[in-house]
Amino acid sequence: MVERGATPEGGDGRTPGGNRAPEAVTALAVTVTIDVALAAGVSSPVRAGRRVGGEPFVCARGEGPYAFDTEGRRFIDYIMAYGPLLFGHTPPYLRGLEAVAGAGAVRGSTSPEELRLAERIRAALPSMEKLRFATTGSEAVQGALRIARAYTGHDAVLKFAGNYHGHFDLALHRAGASAETPDAQRSGIPRAVSADVAVARYNDLDDVDRQLERVGERLAAILVEPVCANMGLVEPVPGFLAGLRERADRCGAVLIFDEVITWLRLGLGGAQQRTGVRPDLTVVGKILGGGFPIAAFGGRAEILARLAPDGPCFTGGTHAGMPFAAALGLRVLDHVEREAAALARTAERAEALAGGIRASLRALDLHYTVVQLESIVDFKFRSGPATRSYDDQARDDQTAYAAFYRAARERGILLPPSHNEVLFLSTAHGADDVAVTVEAFDASLRELRSEGIV
Ligand SMILES: Cc1ncc(COP(=O)(O)O)c(C=O)c1O
Repeated sequence: MVERGATPEGGDGRTPGGNRAPEAVTALAVTVTIDVALAAGVSSPVRAGRRVGGEPFVCARGEGPYAFDTEGRRFIDYIMAYGPLLFGHTPPYLRGLEAVAGAGAVRGSTSPEELRLAERIRAALPSMEKLRFATTGSEAVQGALRIARAYTGHDAVLKFAGNYHGHFDLALHRAGASAETPDAQRSGIPRAVSADVAVARYNDLDDVDRQLERVGERLAAILVEPVCANMGLVEPVPGFLAGLRERADRCGAVLIFDEVITWLRLGLGGAQQRTGVRPDLTVVGKILGGGFPIAAFGGRAEILARLAPDGPCFTGGTHAGMPFAAALGLRVLDHVEREAAALARTAERAEALAGGIRASLRALDLHYTVVQLESIVDFKFRSGPATRSYDDQARDDQTAYAAFYRAARERGILLPPSHNEVLFLSTAHGADDVAVTVEAFDASLRELRSEGIV
């Protein structure tokens, strides 16, 4: 058992905005007991921070781009809840929710909010001719796979090492993010599930072909993150997604784009508009709910016609498409449309952050790679060209990342506690926040250098 927070440490002079009056810190301090009832002290493993050592971060509240620990210390947050917080912790659409809740949060019937949200999603992503809501991304990917199997009459699924699609059995085979299950059976995954999964190297069509030789005849779906953000940030090389499209067609299989991270973060048209490759099915989630859990899968009407009660393929849920989250989804989409300029500024800030890190690295004669796309920045301790596959990603120096995470946290910057995750900026991250971060990263890198870690 670890008990923390009873004695506020106050500002340490290095925490931006963290030098609150001691009384304010005391007022915010609560005692947090970890590891007692809550298994491993977390509801999702990455949060334990085991990969980076030290204590797990317990976030008492968020505000704009900041996360506050239980002692009231402020951190510039680049986790952003692993993606959903495109507009920061406390966007304007979270105000005035009484009216939304006043109509009932979950009704057990189709709601106007849900119908309208489905129309709005289809308008943004025309490949989603029909769609169905689910509660989480995991559930929505599961729904997409089931309907792909129902449609094709086949069982096998080709996925990619280092992609992450949620926590269900099939998805955990060579998953990225913090979800490695090196021994499927001991991890609780039945052998029968593994028999129907083929895992290929991302960005490698030759490896895809090798896997298809094994399962091509039985292939129901190719499941892919069209731009991957769960093994660092990895863009598809030219021709990769088109190659998957062509192979799915050749095998009579369904191409599924998991856009749970990329939709809205890469714009209203998602990765599919950016890359010009149209999938048969798409999965969206995260940002859609504005912080509340809602996700959806959908695509060609012909495939979705298999869903119960029109067809034999069942997916559903008590909270699926719940009106409260759907109403938030409508507010989020309004906000995305209204805030185009703020989103463009955020991408510029991400570029400035990436540029700042590169300048620090140059000054120290370090040659690690920094990648940025829109509001996503990825910096790991690996030199050479940008990561193309999970094999590249596995060559980074995780000890250095762990030390960097701790050095940055000491300076009031909250990074994702896993080398596979990326840094997410939001429209709430100001130019000042980025400047403070660049300075803190510079000091952290110098510290690592002086300690001989890099
Ligand atoms: C690309 C991708 N797909 C699916 C999921 C699963 O979504 P959820 O955590 O809502 O179940 C995630 C979660 O990080 C993800 O990054």
